[in-house]
Amino acid sequence: MKSTTYSEKVLDHFRNPRNVGTLEGEDVSMGRVGNPVCGDLMEIYIRVKDNIITDIKFKTFGCGSAIATASMITELAKGKSIEEAEKITRGDVADELDGLPPIKMHCSNLAADALKAAIKNYREKGHQSEKEKRTLQKIIGIERFQDAGVYTKINDPQQLKDKRIIILDKGEESVSRACLLRELSPRVVFITPNKESLFNEEFKQKLHKARVKILYETEILELLGRKKIEKIKVHDLNEDEVYELFADAIIL
Ligand code: FES
Repeated sequence: MKSTTYSEKVLDHFRNPRNVGTLEGEDVSMGRVGNPVCGDLMEIYIRVKDNIITDIKFKTFGCGSAIATASMITELAKGKSIEEAEKITRGDVADELDGLPPIKMHCSNLAADALKAAIKNYREKGHQSEKEKRTLQKIIGIERFQDAGVYTKINDPQQLKDKRIIILDKGEESVSRACLLRELSPRVVFITPNKESLFNEEFKQKLHKARVKILYETEILELLGRKKIEKIKVHDLNEDEVYELFADAIIL
């Protein structure tokens, strides 16, 4: 193939891309990658049910080849198991498109890498929720303070104005909550079992910018109080020390 010739299939997927858009929901995972060669971006969203990719969408700031390869990879991955989808290579995508001009092969990396990133995030989410469940089961007093300082969702953030708020690390959503609540209270503490060096850099920046205090390598052992939460007992995993913090609310 000449360096500038596009196959009919590439042109078709470029002109009529399949599965353009985004997906939302608990069962959706997203992969976002950038192309180091040209700086373009690709996002792929997968909805997974019983280990099968039941829906998939993409969004890209990329060239025509990036659009065509993303369109094709979404067609190839839809209906496949996670393990099957993971095996799709950029070569497979290019082959299905009857080839890409050689100088455009780097564009096919975007779609294949974004799909892999979405699958990776899906897997991490699974591990995360299992880990979260175990963590929550271990905290003494969660049941007892269910309506007295333990929150799983916040309907009215104003009720937490100026309170001493503890937020448990549950990924991106908890980081956003912490930043939002910091606007209502100067006493917001974000607790994560992760070491500082392993903590997501983007989250760290967001929390620093919002001036949320982060306690790394810390886990919550127990919620304490009479009728409402007054303190929490935490374990500093690094120093292996147990101590107490004053708190009015804990966001799980
Ligand atoms: Fe950037 Fe094709 S030139 S993805």
